Amino acid sequence: MTPDWEELRAAAISAAANAYCPYSGLQVGASALVSDGRTVTGCNVENASYGLGLCAECTMAGQLRLTGGGRFVAVACRSGTGELLMPCGRCRQIIYEFGGPDCLLDTPQGILPMSEVLPDAFGPEHLPA
Ligand code: THU
Repeated sequence: MTPDWEELRAAAISAAANAYCPYSGLQVGASALVSDGRTVTGCNVENASYGLGLCAECTMAGQLRLTGGGRFVAVACRSGTGELLMPCGRCRQIIYEFGGPDCLLDTPQGILPMSEVLPDAFGPEHLPA
């Protein structure tokens, strides 16, 4: 499945418009091409108890599950003004859970697999059977 990166970036920017970010003022949107061809998106959702805020990639993982499951094939994250944003460490782990090492990510260095963005990742294979 070949990602249309321009479409994914545009979907991330539109998702960012739904952000609830009264505390940071940073609108974040994430989008992913899913293994069955659909696109899922997410936006950050902050909280007055600051540490409880949800990143855009987290809400996107919820959307993945809510709309039929599957695997992330390619992911893009953007601010509301269109800047490329790299997923934070926690979000890289969340993307890895549903995309694995071959999932592609839009980065400032170009399109990279998660195996390069989160090297030697902890994954389900490290849990006891
Ligand atoms: N944020 C995301 O949504 N994704 C990331 O990967 C990094 C940070 C959000 C969290 C918070 O609402 C805002 O950006 C500022 O940190």
